[in-house]
Amino acid sequence: MPSGDRILIVGGGQGIGAAVAAVFPDRATIWTRRTGVDATDPDALQRAFAAFRSQHGAPYALVHTIGDFAEVPLLGTDAATWRHLFASNVDTVFHTLQTVVPAMVEARRPGRVVLFAAAGVDRARGQRRAPAYFAAKAAVVQLARSLAAEVAEHGITVNVIAPGLIDHPHSHRDSQARMLPRVPAGRLGTPADVAGAVQMLLAPDAGYLTGQVLTIDGGLQL
Ligand SMILES: NC(=O)c1ccc[n+]([C@@H]2O[C@H](COP(=O)([O-])OP(=O)(O)OC[C@H]3O[C@@H](n4cnc5c(N)ncnc54)[C@H](OP(=O)(O)O)[C@@H]3O)[C@@H](O)[C@H]2O)c1
Repeated sequence: MPSGDRILIVGGGQGIGAAVAAVFPDRATIWTRRTGVDATDPDALQRAFAAFRSQHGAPYALVHTIGDFAEVPLLGTDAATWRHLFASNVDTVFHTLQTVVPAMVEARRPGRVVLFAAAGVDRARGQRRAPAYFAAKAAVVQLARSLAAEVAEHGITVNVIAPGLIDHPHSHRDSQARMLPRVPAGRLGTPADVAGAVQMLLAPDAGYLTGQVLTIDGGLQL
């Protein structure tokens, strides 16, 4: 009998996703390319989800943490970089939502979806440091808001976490070191800082919090 309490973390092999998995050691299932699931490939997602569903049923929560970064000015962004950033940040979200969320709706239980953007994404200003990346993250926010409205009647919340400078072995150290003096908290964030916010959104009593962007950046956007 499926428990219905699984937390499916797409991109949870390292960094923030791995920290989220560490908060829920007995409930997390991780999908990455290293576990055989390339989320740019809808067929691979469908195969993985069929196996997941036969074992666990629909998940309680879907947390999507994939999202490559590139620090390139807009006029220096070539077509391959543009396509890669949208494939990694937007296509994987779209395909994952379409694969997993219908089963959550069918399960007729409360559920949670958490997606990832980046701090500053919802401000009305340019992002000269990484314009293509921020354009992709803006698309994620808009997808989240639309889906939040679409599935609210089923008791499923959809929110976005927008991290600032989060330090882990694969993060972009040069870029982070340059921006650190602008962080009021005086330090980089940790994956655990972000995982704590995910835990809050996944709480059973957070069912009326939906369609929001939660910035976790030590005050960088203030
Ligand atoms: N770290 C930061 O400072 C920061 C700041 C702002 C926003 N963010 C956002 O926060 C989220 C998490 O960031 P992070 O730094 O923890 O990410 P990360 O270290 O790059 O980890 C991404 C994970 O996604 C997996 N992955 C990548 N492409 C995939 C694909 N096509 N299919 C399946 N899995 C894939 C990777 O594993 P495999 O290689 O095995 O596939 C890895 O486990 C991202 O959306 C990022 O844009 C991060």
